[in-house]
Amino acid sequence: MCGIVGYVGKQNAVAIILEGLKRLEYRGYDSAGVCVEKGRKLDVVKKTGRVDRLAKEVAKSRLSGTTGIGHTRWATHGGVTDANAHPHVSSDGRFALIHNGVIENYAQMKKFLLGKGYTFKSETDTEVLCNLIAYHYAKEPKRAKGPSRFVESVRKTLRHVEGTYGIAVLCVDFPGEIVGARKASPLILGVGDQEYILASDASALVSRTQNVVYLKDGEIAHLTPKAFSISTLDQDDVSPVVDTITWSVSDAEKGAHAHFMEKEIFEQPTALENAMRGRFSADGSTAQFGGLNITPGEFREIERFMFCACGTAWHACLVTEHLIERFARIPVEVDYASEFRYRNSPLHPRTLFFVMSQSGETIDTLAALREAKRKGYRVMAVNNVVGSSIAREADGGIYQHVGPEVGVASTKAFTSQLLIGAMIALYLARMRDMSFSDGVEYVEALKGAPDLVRHALKQAPRIREIARKYAGYHDMLFLGRLSLFPLALEGALKLKEISYIHAEGYPAAEMKHGPIALISEKCPAVFFAPKSEIFSKIVSSMQEIKARKGPIIAIATEGVELPKGVADDVIPIPDCHEAVLPIVAAIPVQLLSYYIAVERGCDVDKPRNLAKSVTVE
Ligand code: G6P
Repeated sequence: MCGIVGYVGKQNAVAIILEGLKRLEYRGYDSAGVCVEKGRKLDVVKKTGRVDRLAKEVAKSRLSGTTGIGHTRWATHGGVTDANAHPHVSSDGRFALIHNGVIENYAQMKKFLLGKGYTFKSETDTEVLCNLIAYHYAKEPKRAKGPSRFVESVRKTLRHVEGTYGIAVLCVDFPGEIVGARKASPLILGVGDQEYILASDASALVSRTQNVVYLKDGEIAHLTPKAFSISTLDQDDVSPVVDTITWSVSDAEKGAHAHFMEKEIFEQPTALENAMRGRFSADGSTAQFGGLNITPGEFREIERFMFCACGTAWHACLVTEHLIERFARIPVEVDYASEFRYRNSPLHPRTLFFVMSQSGETIDTLAALREAKRKGYRVMAVNNVVGSSIAREADGGIYQHVGPEVGVASTKAFTSQLLIGAMIALYLARMRDMSFSDGVEYVEALKGAPDLVRHALKQAPRIREIARKYAGYHDMLFLGRLSLFPLALEGALKLKEISYIHAEGYPAAEMKHGPIALISEKCPAVFFAPKSEIFSKIVSSMQEIKARKGPIIAIATEGVELPKGVADDVIPIPDCHEAVLPIVAAIPVQLLSYYIAVERGCDVDKPRNLAKSVTVE
């Protein structure tokens, strides 16, 4: 949902900003722009399309300077046009601003500013913000001491703003300075060697520094070439805490892989190892988590769980629900974060709340967390990005530790969420009725998951062949049962988001209550057919489809016998423990959708209309 970068230092700001924008492109790619301040002038270049296109325009215009801001946009207010691209410049030419978020009360502020003679070139809420800063600046007295007029005009403006923002602002009267601020949209300050960088996430600055300050909501950062300071909207000074990023720039590069998605699919064995490291008890019979901030006694009192998330993370919650109910026998409810926040659903008083979010910035999930906390519930987070808003606001949490995930379609973050969900189920089960030996068996199974995933990945060449065969279809069904029903949903989501093939996920037996009407030789079905006590029921559903000429791709456990002719193509997966099955079953659907999208010539890492981190409602 828009990426922003700002640079203050001695180097060529344009090159650093463009590199940062490239890394933030997963947040939006409708248009991009950059502005540098030089000799008390603001030079802007902005264009619809990708950062590469912007880079060509920038080269033509010979833009240069040592202080600047840049933006890559995911359109909210106003269409995808050059005029709506950021940075926006105030009508008096004094300020340039980039923004990630939504200003909800922009219409009334625009009306006010029009009345005062300010003019607008775009349809965006951002330009309103920029002009409002100019308006406050004009009224602000010049000061010899204390907070600068620049900082104060931004502060006054933000006090009038309703909505969300991560912003960076330049002012011609303050050369070499940037003012940044955030509310509900992420903003990180990189503290480098005689330079400071503001960015929406660490990937945009990690090539220059690993020292960062995670700005909090309502904080304003003031960067000058020699120093930075942080204060609040209420003018209180903040002592910054400088954290160190534990991964390096190579983790955010795709290396020899054609796409980040491919790299991240093949990284999953290592990602799973990292996610489970140090998280099993010394006796090898249960899981342990360092950051939950809840005692075993308090955990024992919990009678229900509520999980909220969006997109792929929501599917991981559904699998977790299945495993907790199956092994720990505790009722679990799962809700879309976007629904939970407005549904006002009654919650059992002894409910422990969990949110899952790779980015930790998804606004609906953050809002669900806040709503649960407002009602007095304790909220835990399963989250990948260290220092994210969700990680900071949760009462406790479990980091996924899988390194940066760049591909918009989530893969390694998903399987690590499945792993952590399985570990939560184990922890709870061992507190109740699961025996020591069953616990040890469960732990051993989880430890074996990375190797099973390596094994499943060996099917890649075969899946690529299958993908060629099915890439031309317009519709597809994904069918699974029990813990693999959420995998059917995930398979359908993956396929539609990156290949634009219409796909639906259903519980396999439910298919006969509607979706079967779609079946013909033109609508293939992907079936999960693992070894289980209901294997024969799954085969019956397959036969119902075959009887109606529907092509079938079966993802089946190695060694199970499918009746002859029922499946057109079979992708084997290794036989494994129930807790590991969803992780292993995710691999073929990830590869299938990836190869189908490649076959169709789709832009896998940047699917149309999507963004990796959705920080608007
Ligand atoms: C977006 C992404 C999805 C992701 C969802 C939740 O819609 O395109 O891939 O699953 O957000 O993201 P989160 O960061 O909260 O897990």
